[in-house]
Amino acid sequence: MPLERTFSIIKPDATRRNLTGEINAVIENNGFAIVGQRRIHMSRAQAEGFYRDHKDQDFFQALVDYMVSEPVVVQVLEGEDAIKRYRALMGPTDATKAGPDTLRGRFALSMRENSVHGSDSPANAQREIGYFFSEVEILPCTPEKP
Ligand code: TYD
Repeated sequence: MPLERTFSIIKPDATRRNLTGEINAVIENNGFAIVGQRRIHMSRAQAEGFYRDHKDQDFFQALVDYMVSEPVVVQVLEGEDAIKRYRALMGPTDATKAGPDTLRGRFALSMRENSVHGSDSPANAQREIGYFFSEVEILPCTPEKP
């Protein structure tokens, strides 16, 4: 199966609690390579644009307020079947329904403060990666020669 890329965010509730390293260890131990990574403080316009599909939802303003409340870590993850596998590793949006081995099951504080984001489709992965990264900032390792 070919390598696929997905987009991830370590969200404010997690950066605030110094969980970046712990979450990255889980990511790497589950067969993903972190091929792009940057710590940023999102602007309101950036957060609104990122979550534009949710702009008519009642939770939109609170979601944007939260996403700009602290720095986040934006990432490009690479691996086989990365989009689906990272969604499974994250667990569902509502962490009360997330298993104890998932990132949200382990770290989320609430429905909104759910520690991580991951793209939910190939089209969204492409849009979300391009929203924060240029191609020259994504640096996979050279595969080992046999
Ligand atoms: P969504 O894209 O539905 O979930 P996911 O992050 O699992 O792809 O929603 C985006 C974020 O919006 C979600 O991670 C947390 C927040 N949110 C709420 O605060 N309340 C809600 O009722 C929902 C559905 C989401």
